[in-house]
Amino acid sequence: MKAFFATLALPLLAAAAPAPQATDANPPFSVMAIRSASPIHYMQMNAAGQKFWLGGKTSSYCPTEVVQDCPPGNQTVLAPGGNALDVEVPGGQQVYVAPSGALSFTQAHSANIPPGSAVGGLTYQPGQPWSHYTFNGWGASGFMACPTSDNRWQVFAAMKNATVPSGNVSDCLGFSAMALPYKGEVPAWQYA
Ligand SMILES: *[C@@H]1O[C@H](CO)[C@@H](O)[C@H](O)[C@H]1NC(C)=O
Ligand SMILES: *[C@@H]1O[C@H](CO)[C@@H](O)[C@H](O)[C@H]1NC(C)=O
Ligand SMILES: *[C@@H]1O[C@H](CO)[C@@H](O)[C@H](O)[C@H]1NC(C)=O
Repeated sequence: MKAFFATLALPLLAAAAPAPQATDANPPFSVMAIRSASPIHYMQMNAAGQKFWLGGKTSSYCPTEVVQDCPPGNQTVLAPGGNALDVEVPGGQQVYVAPSGALSFTQAHSANIPPGSAVGGLTYQPGQPWSHYTFNGWGASGFMACPTSDNRWQVFAAMKNATVPSGNVSDCLGFSAMALPYKGEVPAWQYA
């Protein structure tokens, strides 16, 4: 009997525990702001103009003469780990924190990042039920959203010396960046 179980159990265990898939533990993801009882609660984070915003729209580009079937490009998704965008353009697009504190991304076909930026310091923290996206460099504790004159909120590392649109960091709201795993085709050729 014992031998029977042993021979039965081994293949079952092997079947029940497949090699962990990198895409499950470390997926591409979109970001939603959590700050209850505030205007930014549940807002999606959008890439536009090499910066990130709550509100407004994702800005993307696809060279239709080169790419037959352009992805819709209407949703902002970060690549696994959160230090790049999930794009098809060769060379990709890096995500970094500029010296001003602004969460930023590189232009397509350019590796140009301002001197003094924090590169590689963004992290995806898997969790149950929710995973999070954060930045803890420069003594920052995650992210904050700062109001702009065009009714959006710009995303910055939450640090007192950030250079924000209104000129006053007290106008910004710290938020928790919930990371929502993304499944499907790469959502954009490039963000713009
Ligand atoms: C993006 O565009 C596609 C195709 O037009 C549409 O089906 C989808 O609902 C849009 N998604 C978002 C998040 O707007
Ligand atoms: C902001 O403060 C942090 C922490 O003290 C420091 O590391 C960083 O260099 C400062 N940035 C600027 C632009 O002053
Ligand atoms: C920044 O905003 C806070 C809170 O609204 C206010 O108390 C403070 O005086 C402002 N600082 C400046 C320099 O405007």
